[in-house]
Formats: sequence, structure tokens, C-alpha cells
Amino acid sequence: NEGSLWGGRFASGPSPELQALSRSTHFDWQLTPYDLAGSRAHANALHTAGLLTDVDHAELLRGLAVLGERYAAGDLHPAPTDEDVHGALERLLVDEVGSEVGGRIRAGRSRNDQIATLFRAYLLDHVRTIARQVLDLVDVLAAQAADHLAPGSESVMPGRTHLQHAQPVLLSHHLLAHAWPLLRDVARLDDWTRRVSAESPYGAGALAGSSLGLDPEQVAHELGFSGSSPNSIDGTAARDFVAEFAFVTAMIGVDVSRLAEEVILWSTREFDFVTLHDSWSTGSSIMPQKKNPDVAELARGKSGRLVGNLAGLMTTLKALPLAYNRDLQEDKEPVFDSVDTLEVLLPAFSGMVATLTFNVARMAELAPQGFSLATDVAEWLVREGVPFRDAHELAGACVRRCEELGCDLPDLTDEQLAAISPALRPDVRSVLTVEGSVASRSGRGGTAPARVREQLDEVRSVAADH
Ligand code: ARG
Repeated sequence: NEGSLWGGRFASGPSPELQALSRSTHFDWQLTPYDLAGSRAHANALHTAGLLTDVDHAELLRGLAVLGERYAAGDLHPAPTDEDVHGALERLLVDEVGSEVGGRIRAGRSRNDQIATLFRAYLLDHVRTIARQVLDLVDVLAAQAADHLAPGSESVMPGRTHLQHAQPVLLSHHLLAHAWPLLRDVARLDDWTRRVSAESPYGAGALAGSSLGLDPEQVAHELGFSGSSPNSIDGTAARDFVAEFAFVTAMIGVDVSRLAEEVILWSTREFDFVTLHDSWSTGSSIMPQKKNPDVAELARGKSGRLVGNLAGLMTTLKALPLAYNRDLQEDKEPVFDSVDTLEVLLPAFSGMVATLTFNVARMAELAPQGFSLATDVAEWLVREGVPFRDAHELAGACVRRCEELGCDLPDLTDEQLAAISPALRPDVRSVLTVEGSVASRSGRGGTAPARVREQLDEVRSVAADH
């Protein structure tokens, strides 16, 4: 088994079927830059520990640098017989510097501590990209919110619960309601980063640590971690950092899917709340008139895939005994897929949201429909001193009367109102407008224009802090 990392105790090489099953280079090759960085730090630790001469140390660093350049140039490839990225790179290093020097690099390390470290480094890099992309989406939502907050002509819409008309709200308020979960996702990524960047498992060896006097803290710091694993068994066996990453990426997918679903509904003929930009929608191969919200649908669909990646990973980890087991190799593909999925989805989704045109006239027309001002009647009565239980009944009676008459709440005459209750003086009309209704919800977090403007500033300042 020429070039393999193991073989001494085997009389024969691995069967082709085993090799095919075992091979991971087709997906872990992308970890090459991280593996090379780990080898560089490890060579330095070996040198510090007196296990490498100055000459051998320099030669190893030269060899690693050559491999790095070749990889960057697209000129470094694994062989079909290589089991994984670690084995392939050691073989290529030996090709470059010879087996006398190249054969020294593996002392005191194992693929188990290597992969646990490299995967952290890989994810730490991609978390930065994903957080940036999520913040771009927050920016786009904030920009749309700002565009619909012109003083005196703030856009309104029917706010819904159970998908039924509930109370009128500002469109900006609704859009910002999609920004907050995304900001929490970014906070989760920050929190994850703090934890994951604190621990480098390099130096844990296969599971028990090294007998060679190597300093894991030196390697950790060189790789940009603030410390090394306090427990070598945990360092090589733990994958909660992968699961947590998969959770946050799934949560981002789910958060995006909720807005995606609304965009899909809003762009139907029945809703007619938004028009998608031509560059961010697709046509049909048979129906010439079609304009489809494929970006939103793909976002909705891909959220299922992100959740599936999390579920698969958790299932792989469940009941796995300590320490390293080969099952753990299965942690990579789902998470690589989650990274790739979000990194193509988020920019497209942001582009679609940025170019949505809202049909504000239609939204304003629908905002008061479905008796969405009934709560305003009840709360007006409360301000008049009526207990809420009675106020709720009276406002309900107004709705019933409107249904009998086939009219809307503002259409009730003074006499009709007085007939329901003398408490319903003509003054109640002051709250029977959408503008009056939204303006009255002026507590913190409410839909009153001044509060939403305040909220927009808050979204922007939280986003700027990341
Ligand atoms: N490629 C493996 C992984 O991704 C690391 C190799 C560990 N292999 C082993 N036989 N201990 O987890």
C-alpha cells in the first residue's frame, strides 16, 4: 500500500471495495489549506521541542509552502489510492522533500486531532462569510423598511395572525420583523465563534495526548485559536461544534424560508402585494405569461435540506462511544453542503428582496378590511373607562352589526353605534382609520411610525456592531 499512512502490520493492502468506501478525498480535499497550516504549526512545535534540526525544519516548511502554492494554482491533486486529505498531503510532502525529512512530520499527531482542528478552522472561515451575507440581507430589509417610512405617508398593510386579517401594521414594521431573527442568527454565529476559536485539539494525538513534549498551546496560537483542548479525548471525539454550526445554518434557512413563503404568497394574483424584478424571477417553458418566484421557492426548499443536514448529523453522533470513531468522517459532507447552500442562497435571496416592488396602494386598501380595526374600538372604550371584557363584547357587536348590514366599521352611523351602546359616542371614529390605529400603538416595539423609525435605527446599530 505505497504511500499510505499505515501498512506495517498488514500482510496485504486494502481491497478495492474498502478503498472506495473509505476514500474521502473527493470532499475533504478542500481542507488542504487548513491541513497545510496545521502541518506548518506542527513542524514548528517539533522544532521547538528539539525533534527537528534547523535544516530539516526549514526543508519541511519549504515543502509545505510548495504544496500550498501548487494547491492555489490548481495543480495539486490527490491520487485514487489516497485515503483522505491528510494522507494525500503527507505523501505529496514526502514526494517533495524526500522520506527522510518528510517522514518526520507525523510524529506526535494523528489524523484524529488534525481533522478535529482543521474542521474548526474551516468552519470559522465560512462563518465569517455567512454572517456577512446574513447581515447583507438585514441591510436590504432595512433599506426597504426605510423606503416605506416617508413621514406622513408610511406604507401600511394588513397585519395577520392565523393568516387572517388581524390589525393594520406598517409595512416597515413587518419587514423589520424578519430582520430581528436574522440578527439573532448572527449573534449565534458570533457566540459559536467565541467558543470554537477558543479550542484547538491539535496535539491530542489519536486520543491520549503526546509523549514527545510538544506544546499544543503553541500550535493553537499559531493557528489562530486562543487555546488548546483541556481534554485530549474530548478534543478528538467532540463534534458538538459541528452540530451547533449545522443548527445555526438550519435556523438561518428556516428564518429565510418564512420570508420566502410570504414573498411567494404576496406575489400571487390574489394577494398582489409585490412585484418581483424581472432579473430575480423566472419564466415557464410552456406558459408564456408566467413569472415565477423561483428564488423564494428555492429558499423555502433549501431550508428543508439544511434541516436535513442537521438531523443527519445529530443521528450520526447519537450514542457514539468515545473517542474517535470513523463514523465521524460523516460529519463533513452535510456541513459542507450547508455551507455551499447558504453561500449561494443568501446573495440571491438578498438580491430578490432588494428589488421587490411593493404595491402599497393595494396593501393600504386591504389594511382596514376584515374588521381589522375592531381592537381599536375595544381599546378606545377602555380609554373611556369601559372594562375590557365589556369593550370586547361591544366591539364584537359592532362587527356583527356590520356583517348584517354588509358594511365596514367606519360606515356605521352615529345612531347605529348608539343603538349598540351609548358608550359608543361618535368620537370613536377617531380610531376608525388605519393611520389612527397604527399611530395609537406607540409603546416600545409597537407599529406607530415614530416607534418603527426608532426600531429601524436599532436594527441598523445592532447590525453595525457585528
Ligand atoms: N478522514 C477522517 C475524518 O474525516 C480522519 C481520519 C481518521 N481516520 C482514522 N482511521 N483514525 O474523520
